[in-house]
Amino acid sequence: MAPSRKTEPETSKKGRTSSKLFVPACYSFGFLLVCLIAFLLQIVYFSPISPVLDEVPQPAVLSATQLQDFIKVGEGSVNHPEDASMDKNGVIYTATRDGWIKRLQDGTWVNWKFIDSQTLLGLTSTKEGHLIICDNANGLYKVSEDGVENFLSYVNGSKLRFANAVVEASDGSLYFTVSSSKYLPREYYLDILEGKPHGQLLKYDPSSNITTLVADGFYFANGVALSRDEDYVVVCESWKFRCRKYWLKGERKGKLETFAENLPRAPDNINLAPDGTFWIAVIKFDARRMKILNSSKLIKHILAAYPKLFSRFITLGGGAHLINVAEDGTIIRNLVDPTGQLMPFVTSGLQVDDHLYMVSVTSNFIGKVQLS
Ligand SMILES: *[C@@H]1O[C@H](CO)[C@@H](O)[C@H](O)[C@H]1NC(C)=O
Ligand SMILES: *[C@@H]1O[C@H](CO)[C@@H](O)[C@H](O)[C@H]1NC(C)=O
Ligand SMILES: *[C@@H]1O[C@H](CO)[C@@H](O)[C@H](O)[C@H]1NC(C)=O
Repeated sequence: MAPSRKTEPETSKKGRTSSKLFVPACYSFGFLLVCLIAFLLQIVYFSPISPVLDEVPQPAVLSATQLQDFIKVGEGSVNHPEDASMDKNGVIYTATRDGWIKRLQDGTWVNWKFIDSQTLLGLTSTKEGHLIICDNANGLYKVSEDGVENFLSYVNGSKLRFANAVVEASDGSLYFTVSSSKYLPREYYLDILEGKPHGQLLKYDPSSNITTLVADGFYFANGVALSRDEDYVVVCESWKFRCRKYWLKGERKGKLETFAENLPRAPDNINLAPDGTFWIAVIKFDARRMKILNSSKLIKHILAAYPKLFSRFITLGGGAHLINVAEDGTIIRNLVDPTGQLMPFVTSGLQVDDHLYMVSVTSNFIGKVQLS
């Protein structure tokens, strides 16, 4: 034991010195090749991902309706919100990047409660009249007139991370998504590159204070919504351009099926509309570049090592784009801003009467359009 311990530091010292000498040697062509191979081997060896080459989504090309009569609600008074929700009294709430929970009063966003967090994502209003908010770093918060409570931050002894969207069922239980059980929110690109399904659908039962795993195997579990009759819950899988439904009632109870696939872009949040259909905000990922990713594990390893390169390679955007999907999963409306000038992209669409509110982590207002 002892001698081997002694020799170990010596070898590593040697290695360091020789690599210093190695760098000038690289100027010769043969060594350049060796250096390149050594560099690539190092990238693969220390890679944070174990990638697979997997089916790339085939986005559908649909005829589009242009978003018109666009209003910016409360410009400058919301700092990059991700989602919005309306309570039973018709008040609309949102959660911002600077931790403020705001509500809409006479066309402006007014501070209501504060959470010391910069990572608030999806939210939902409950029957009791409070809000449940996902924080991708700290789990779930309950916000009411009485204050703020981080009521779920551990699940079965593990820190709850990357909670993304939440919806309440009529029995008071909460269905929520964990986008990736493997990677941290700031490592979301590793989740794409690895190409394996680490997303989960969880259920929190407030009467027992127990959180159960409802379904897993989602390629980035993002938005979640219940059908009007609560016979199924839909989970949107961003990296696969599709949403799946998990049956809660009837003969198919407990089964996971495709809800809508080949969506025109990657789905983010999904919200139930007053007529029982759904609004899904979709975000552009370059599908051709996804194909390039699918062609080589080495490319994946290189991009995993250089996140800046990744964000140049796969850019998010494409302008505001929302789809309205029927209860059976067919797309009935495809609303697009072809100029991309209104908002870089939309992360959530909330229908109130015949208006659609468009929320985006890239904007400092909430967009509003008339639907009919
Ligand atoms: C992605 O790669 C896998 C494995 O090579 C292949 O089966 C699949 O067809 C590819 N998909 C696309 C869209 O190229
Ligand atoms: C609920 O369970 C969590 C751990 O899972 C615990 O930290 C918390 O105190 C419990 N809350 C109540 C009200 O029992
Ligand atoms: C927590 O543990 C319970 C009991 O083993 C299990 O039923 C439940 O699904 C677990 N929850 C999660 C999120 O894995």
